[in-house]
Amino acid sequence: MSATTSVFAEVLTSAQQQIQQDLTLALDAFGLPEPIKSAVHHAVMLGGKRVRPALCYATAALQPNNPNMAAVRRAAVAVELVHCYSLVHDDLPCMDNDALRRGQPTCHIVFGESTALLAGDILQSMAYEVLSSRLFDQGVAVDQQIMFKQMQLLATSSSKMVCGQVLDLAAEGQRIDQSTLENIHRNKTGALIQAAIMMSAVTVFKGTDLAITQLRQFGQAIGLAFQVQDDILDITANTEVLGKTAGKDVQVEKSTYPALLGLDEAKNYAQQLHDQALEALAYFGEDAKSLYEITQFLLSRHY
Ligand code: IPE
Ligand code: IPE
Ligand code: MG
Ligand code: MG
Ligand code: MG
Repeated sequence: MSATTSVFAEVLTSAQQQIQQDLTLALDAFGLPEPIKSAVHHAVMLGGKRVRPALCYATAALQPNNPNMAAVRRAAVAVELVHCYSLVHDDLPCMDNDALRRGQPTCHIVFGESTALLAGDILQSMAYEVLSSRLFDQGVAVDQQIMFKQMQLLATSSSKMVCGQVLDLAAEGQRIDQSTLENIHRNKTGALIQAAIMMSAVTVFKGTDLAITQLRQFGQAIGLAFQVQDDILDITANTEVLGKTAGKDVQVEKSTYPALLGLDEAKNYAQQLHDQALEALAYFGEDAKSLYEITQFLLSRHY
């Protein structure tokens, strides 16, 4: 494990523990019938780096003793549920047709296509049910303005994710230019990552604060960098560590950064985007320690 990976491990481990607990509480509250209960459990509870919840918590940590921690926790659950839904659908035979995810057979392999499709559907509605609930409140009054902004942020980014997925599939086997590829990646992946940060940011800052502008820039840079790195790992990582089939993008001629720029240039670009992300964080100084650590990890990750 490299130094940066182990530094992140601490931020990541505490985020993973928190989200695992909160996801369990949220899923239990739904009391779903079988087989969708097991399909949802499979899609949500079995692994995953939990980067989006970690970004929610680290953004909230910009303000010590954040009085809106319940809203942050709901946001972390909701964004992870949407992310899990996107993975279940992304793996379907009509999309990327993948058999391995998070080191397990994919949801449709275990439960069949119709149940997997419906598990993805219900995960999406569950996200909004959680976001508009009083889960984790413990008697503290709900700030409805924050709740409304979070719902808006999640809905907008999810729509972008879907549009990005449409463009991603259409671009298979095509020669596209860098700005077209950037648009795909910002939509299919960057938007939800940025939303994870902003859904937490609205619990801490007002819309007019400079901090909001800085976090938006940070989210944009780290969100795009995340998919560039995902494209790189498809080539450089192995299936066992990755928990999904390596080399798959090349096999189906996906439009990716390494395919467009070559591996070395793609790595340089990922580095540039991380530098941009770190510049945006500089505004917060020491308060952004956790966000800084996550950013460091994301560039050095092997999975
Ligand atoms: C994979 O996301 C899909 C992309 C958006 C690139 P992650 O790499 O965050 O997947 P998990 O949650 O850790 O499995
Ligand atoms: C997926 O991108 C983005 C999503 C919205 C799920 P990929 O198709 O590259 O993600 P992986 O590599 O299957 O995780
Ligand atoms: Mg895909
Ligand atoms: Mg895929
Ligand atoms: Mg990929």
